[in-house]
Amino acid sequence: MMADATFYFPDDFKWGAATAAHQVEGNNTNNQWWAWEQAPGHIRNGDKSGDACGWWLDAEADFDRMVDLGLNAHRLSIEWSRIEPREGQFDTAAIDRYRAMLLGLRRRGIEPMVTLHHFTNPQWLEERGGWEHAHVVVPLFVRYAARVVKSMGDLCDLWCTINEPNVYATLGYLVDGRMPPGMTNRLDKAMAVMCNMLLGHAAAYQVLHEHQALARVGFAHHMRLFQPLNPASMLDRTAARLLDGAFNRDSLTALLKGRWSLAMLRGRPPSPRPLRGTLDWIGVNYYGRQGVAFDSASPGTLWGRQVTIPGAEMSDFDTGDVYPEGITPLLKYLVLSRLPVYITENGLPDADDHLRPGFILRELRALWSAVQFQLIQGYYHWTLTDNFEWADGWRLKFGLYQFDPLTGERTPRRSAMLYRDIIRKNAINGDIVREYAPDVVEKLFP
Ligand code: FCB
Repeated sequence: MMADATFYFPDDFKWGAATAAHQVEGNNTNNQWWAWEQAPGHIRNGDKSGDACGWWLDAEADFDRMVDLGLNAHRLSIEWSRIEPREGQFDTAAIDRYRAMLLGLRRRGIEPMVTLHHFTNPQWLEERGGWEHAHVVVPLFVRYAARVVKSMGDLCDLWCTINEPNVYATLGYLVDGRMPPGMTNRLDKAMAVMCNMLLGHAAAYQVLHEHQALARVGFAHHMRLFQPLNPASMLDRTAARLLDGAFNRDSLTALLKGRWSLAMLRGRPPSPRPLRGTLDWIGVNYYGRQGVAFDSASPGTLWGRQVTIPGAEMSDFDTGDVYPEGITPLLKYLVLSRLPVYITENGLPDADDHLRPGFILRELRALWSAVQFQLIQGYYHWTLTDNFEWADGWRLKFGLYQFDPLTGERTPRRSAMLYRDIIRKNAINGDIVREYAPDVVEKLFP
């Protein structure tokens, strides 16, 4: 027998979507991803970002779609290689275009959150080693951040310095080389890069505050639930715990306490002292769960091998495990920090939208409890329209709107209507569940 309940969100809760410059703007020809896409074998089906979703010319049509859905927040990123296409040369026309975008959001009643670095480096920085050398990259990142806050600070005060240092480091240097520079098994470099990104964050935190007293500065941290394949096996449990520490907890500990972990010391990073206390809020990007089996042949990944949990529900991701409830145990790491939290990304690739409505409802049900602790201030769904999904090209469809890269046409999926209805009611309840995802009633109202 089904029981009804209504889960209200606070009046000032932020309902948003998230995007990244390279995935939507088109023709970001001066960054390392553009170069990477041109070489065969890097992107699934040989796809390229190309014109992407055309945001550089017309993001505003999608801002209107956000209004249709009732969004009051949007997370977007600024492309460093547009602002500074050559080292030390800043492009005022690019700055003006971003100003127009931020103004366009504000005029529509949508609060922007601006990410300064979302996976892409200007090609000139890539040629100097990207994030491998702190003394090179940190001052350059600070100079760029200062330029952005000085030229856009009247339009934005909510800053996300860097997106997912742990993913950038892992996929670029450790596991399967899916991201440039495409190295594998380089734990030393992965750790150096991750630490340097945190140092970059901390230095940008200071410069943003210097220029804008009321700036609210955080970063977007990818968190995954690492679950031992066999919970009775001590080895599987240990491997899962090590990965949980290295991937989920170490960056947070570094920024909250100013301390590197043992794994991070493999990268021989400079002193962690500047890190402490450089978070006004924490951003969580959560997608799902990962099974872990002990593997003595994988010391580079802390003896953990990625496996699928038997019986897990799968999305269009090869390794995607639909498990929205997994966010709850991860949030406990954040409660004691007393910092506000934004869910800066959450979503799933689901071309025919048969899983997404239930996924969104289950995720929001899980988050609702954390909202009651005043922990969560907002939710940014990844993403508004299908876009260029990095190494997976155009194959994985994360959009509330279906997007055709050939014609540019957008078509709302049912999930878009669901999100609109949730935002209108500022709540999830039995009626919404019955209409959009009756199959998850039991999971929502047990
Ligand atoms: C995250 C990235 C984002 C997008 C989603 C699916 O790790 O931050 O750009 O690719 O995954």
